[in-house]
Amino acid sequence: MSQDTSAAARAANASVSLVDNTSGNEASFPLIGGTDGPKVIDIRKLYAETGYFTYDPGFVSTASCESKITFIDGDEGILMHRGYMIEDLAENCDFLEVCYLLLYGELPSPDQKTKFVNGITYHTMLHEQLHNFYRGFRRDAHPMAIMCGVVGALSAFYHDSTDIADPHQRMVASYRLVAKMPTIAAWAYKYSLGQPFMYPRNDLTYSEDFIRMMFATPCEEYEVSPVISKAMDRILILHADHEQNASTSTVRLAGSSGANPFACIAAGIASLWGPAHGGANEAVLNMLREVRSKDHITEYLARAKDKDDPFRLMGFGHRVYKNHDPRATIMRKTCHEVLDELDIRDEPLLDLAMELERIALEDDYFVERKLYPNVDFYSGIIFQALGIPTTMFTVLFAVARTVGWVAQWNEMVEDPSQKIGRPRQIYTGQARRPFVPIAQRG
Ligand code: ACO
Repeated sequence: MSQDTSAAARAANASVSLVDNTSGNEASFPLIGGTDGPKVIDIRKLYAETGYFTYDPGFVSTASCESKITFIDGDEGILMHRGYMIEDLAENCDFLEVCYLLLYGELPSPDQKTKFVNGITYHTMLHEQLHNFYRGFRRDAHPMAIMCGVVGALSAFYHDSTDIADPHQRMVASYRLVAKMPTIAAWAYKYSLGQPFMYPRNDLTYSEDFIRMMFATPCEEYEVSPVISKAMDRILILHADHEQNASTSTVRLAGSSGANPFACIAAGIASLWGPAHGGANEAVLNMLREVRSKDHITEYLARAKDKDDPFRLMGFGHRVYKNHDPRATIMRKTCHEVLDELDIRDEPLLDLAMELERIALEDDYFVERKLYPNVDFYSGIIFQALGIPTTMFTVLFAVARTVGWVAQWNEMVEDPSQKIGRPRQIYTGQARRPFVPIAQRG
């Protein structure tokens, strides 16, 4: 029998009262809880009962939905997908197993896995006409710009999977997005190089195929290094989902109006691009190159602490993690393994990163604000070691996060309590005033 974890069932009569000091009126709101995590005050009837809205820019204290997919305990540094610790998944699964888990709620049996891998593999090709679409971009376009355009354009190519009311079409769109994203990403890179697009190959794993499509040419055989494909698979797992982050919330908000999944994922890619989110991995590398040597660390730390200086230590800090980012811990270990296995000794950027991390973690400013390295602090260094160009870093994040976006989008569409996302505001503009005809304005 399935457990009833609906908000109503969990309310269990607990409530929080709000007293209006001006009128003396009191209103009571249910207190609800999930499987884990802090309790939540259900304020859905707040406006109807009190005439007030809440004010929470950046959603610092606001849960925007219920979800069964991912749980984060930021104080303890815990990340779980469908109840499984990220450490266990990263150690024991490949990326497509984690994709299955996120999409279906359970780890696959061997048969389910074979069927799923086949389903994804046979959706990796892109409509041939998309070649023309790529050719419309400038050669020097940032690959994230190409990603936004091409992924949004999928809705113009795959009409048979845009009816969001049809569960089968939703699943076909989900498979298509997860399957085609590496092809789209690799082609964005190939286009910037002026090299021919490489078609996917069905005998390779998801990560192997992605690497081959990025680095191979039709002129010669290309052997995918097992070290690189294993590292890539782990990086994809670590970025697969992260509950209601900015890009996922963007996907949900876009989807809440009934928009098709390809358009919603394009919106997520746009949100991911920013340096405060997925763009941070690219920004970390640029920052390390700018710092250049250990001698300049103190100067840059001082700049990061100076409120009049816009410079921030990229790859540090997280809205939710206030202890450590468990993904960063795994990424740090993977980073060392990759450098060892590729026999990359004395990597200056890694040395610099380690020293920066050490000094920042002893600095009162960072300690008091609980600013720890996040996943992006290390991913950029691994990408660089794997020979991936800086502009592709955030694209790789987008490839990995697509399954999370898709799983969250499906969950939202299937949620009977789902409504169009429509926040309110505090209006601070002009009060009502008489209209002045143009001839009298001056
Ligand atoms: N460098 C210097 N100071 C920082 C940094 C940083 N990287 N991050 C936060 N702070 C300071 C803020 O200035 C603020 O100080 P104050 O209390 O004196 O005003 C305090 O720490 C709290 O920071 P907020 O900006 O309020 O935290 P918020 O939760 O809004 O932001 C964010 C989180 C966006 C991740 C922020 O830490 C940041 O910009 N980090 C750098 C970019 C980055 O690495 N992003 C990747 C995030 S993880 C991901 O997307 C996979």
